[in-house]
Amino acid sequence: MGFFKSVFCFIVIFFLFLSSTSATVVSHDGRAITIDGQHRVLLSGSIHYPRSTVEMWPDLIKKAKEGGLDAIETYVFWNVHEPQRRYYDFTGNLDLIRFLKTIQDEGLYAVLRIGPYVCAEWNYGGFPMWLHNMPGVELRTANDVFMNEMKNFTTLIVDMVKKEKLFASQGGPIILAQIENEYGNVMSSYGDAGKAYVDWCANMAESQNIGVPWIMCQQSDAPQPMINTCNGWYCDQFTPNNPNSPKMWTENWTGWSV
Ligand SMILES: *[C@@H]1O[C@H](CO)[C@@H](O)[C@H](O)[C@H]1NC(C)=O
Ligand SMILES: *[C@@H]1O[C@H](CO)[C@@H](O)[C@H](O)[C@H]1NC(C)=O
Repeated sequence: MGFFKSVFCFIVIFFLFLSSTSATVVSHDGRAITIDGQHRVLLSGSIHYPRSTVEMWPDLIKKAKEGGLDAIETYVFWNVHEPQRRYYDFTGNLDLIRFLKTIQDEGLYAVLRIGPYVCAEWNYGGFPMWLHNMPGVELRTANDVFMNEMKNFTTLIVDMVKKEKLFASQGGPIILAQIENEYGNVMSSYGDAGKAYVDWCANMAESQNIGVPWIMCQQSDAPQPMINTCNGWYCDQFTPNNPNSPKMWTENWTGWSV
């Protein structure tokens, strides 16, 4: 009897635990992202939080939802968050956590493109000037000075987000995260160090244990389990580099007027 009682007790506690955290299971197969086991076609749009005011966020996100989007995606802008080394600013329109919670309040998913190199028509791709000036630094390659800073900032952001339980694995809205950004476009000029850097990025991202998949855009050799995604005018011919990676289009360039 005692044994069955304790098994029963364990099952009850287990389900209480499940329902209190209400984690969402985000996974994928070769066909699509799955959310709690369901294959989903997700439409996402960008709102870069520093480019609007806090007061504008709820309305922008509501309109995105009314327009039919499932998810809001944003980059994270390193140079404004860490304007001086180890001095941080997450106030006002730099309040990333508040932005993510606003997305959550509207019932949408979020895609967190940490980078921390972002391009994004943003000064220096979001790299801080102090980083550029660090002795011995070489940006976006297998360079210890750079990788140490990149890991430090990425970990800071992941830890902030985890503390607020904003990853889907914690019951939050974030279903995907991105490391680096279109590195495949420039990688060949870095030679072997470029490949070593991409492998390091993937390992570093994985070691963050966020419980949702990571993506790498424009990275045709993305190390598993990173999902490589397409940015472009046309992505119909695009095939991910692993049969278990679904085909995703992270930027539709018709939105970019030239
Ligand atoms: C970032 O670097 C500082 C030292 O400059 C260190 O105190 C801090 O723990 C590091 N953060 C992480 C997340 O590694
Ligand atoms: C990309 O943009 C074009 C033009 O706005 C649109 O017709 C097309 O459906 C978009 N593709 C996706 C995958 O949303």
